[in-house]
Amino acid sequence: MQDILERISDPEGSLAVLDPATGKTIAHVRTYAKGEVAGIIRQADEARGEWAARTAKERANLLRAWFNLITERKEALAQLMTAECGKPIAEARGEIAYGAAFVEWFAEEGKRAYGETIPTFASGKRLLTIKQPVGTCAAITPWNFPMAMITRKVGPALAAGCAIVVKPAEATPLSALALEHLAREAGIPAALFRVVPTNDPADVGRLFCSDPLIRKLSFTGSTAVGKILMEQAAQNVIKLSLELGGNAPFIVFDDADVDQAVEGALASKYRNSGQTCVCANRFLVQAGIHDAFVERLTKRVAELKVAPGVEEDSKIGPLINASGLGKAESLVRSALDAGAVARTGGARSPVGDNFYQPTVLTGVTADMEIAAAEIFGPVAPVIRFETEEEAIRVANGTPYGLAAYFYSRDLARAWRVMEALEFGMVAVNDGILSTEVAPFGGIKQSGLGREGSRHGLDEYLELKYCLIGGIDR
Ligand code: SIN
Repeated sequence: MQDILERISDPEGSLAVLDPATGKTIAHVRTYAKGEVAGIIRQADEARGEWAARTAKERANLLRAWFNLITERKEALAQLMTAECGKPIAEARGEIAYGAAFVEWFAEEGKRAYGETIPTFASGKRLLTIKQPVGTCAAITPWNFPMAMITRKVGPALAAGCAIVVKPAEATPLSALALEHLAREAGIPAALFRVVPTNDPADVGRLFCSDPLIRKLSFTGSTAVGKILMEQAAQNVIKLSLELGGNAPFIVFDDADVDQAVEGALASKYRNSGQTCVCANRFLVQAGIHDAFVERLTKRVAELKVAPGVEEDSKIGPLINASGLGKAESLVRSALDAGAVARTGGARSPVGDNFYQPTVLTGVTADMEIAAAEIFGPVAPVIRFETEEEAIRVANGTPYGLAAYFYSRDLARAWRVMEALEFGMVAVNDGILSTEVAPFGGIKQSGLGREGSRHGLDEYLELKYCLIGGIDR
């Protein structure tokens, strides 16, 4: 890790990167003011024509070289990630593989940006569509997946023939800078993918929306910030991809396999200490299976080891900062005050300042604050329900629509509920649905557009309709 850190950090830089497990400074990085970012956007825009003119295969070869370097440096990148975001090291390794997979996938997918021919409406005319790169793009990425949320945007942008400028989260610029460094080593022209850490994220966000050279913005983060960007992006009518907040229901029906449901619950809820947009946020458990599910879940959750992410057996690392911890703490307190019961956890952990105990709460009701807010912490609130209709009503009773999970062994119910849930992604009898091959994204206030899969490439392509007239027989 040390050699990469030396290349990407700058002792004189004004942004200090802290280890959330210890509060200590790991490194400083150089920051970019709005004017400098504007210059970088201009360089990106100048470079993109030559890049777009290359064949998809030429672009794919460079993306593949980048993928290989990320994979070769997997351990160093994982350590860097754990150091800056606190994620348990096993999960950080998982994220490097997950993030690299987007580069590999889009390297291939870029070769399949097919247009179409359309049966004509008039004998002297021919109609077709072609797909072309959107142009110069910008991305704003979060701290909870410091790498995969970048490759999920940069992979398709570069594969499509675009240039892209990325503002990483202030808390986690190191993984982003390491990715940029490896992209250069792989031979990807420097101006095409730039990372611009900043101390002034609002200003840079405004620039991304107002600079006439930017044709697309992709943002992963909160719904509140997504709404501001959407308003700002309206001035230039730029293309938007927004991956925003969630409030994922995890429904366990009476006919579920309780052991499978508990395994799925652990994977979905406690991944990254509960800090993902797709983490189960509310457990809706039918009355007949409620006690058995809660008992097994509680036992397993109480066994999860809380420790700094660098420890090999850490399962729950620190939350990102004091404000993340304060939010989880206050939501649990308000649930307990309203009558919920902590079956395990329910308080800060003595391991360190930003650590919270993995928690299971029962007696939660749909009207409590904890059932409406995105917790972003290792807390599982359990709501008891009686009927399928009630579960669907409660599950859909949120302005968010990102991910939903449910467990049932009844095939008819599985279809019914899958169709009835108003979410962009639904997992049946599984707790994890993220993969580069499937479209990730939400509906309602969870966002716009899809990332990953063949649909993720389309977000960086414009569809052009062409008509050729004067074709006389
Ligand atoms: C997120 O939390 O924004 C992304 C989670 C994932 O890709 O699984």
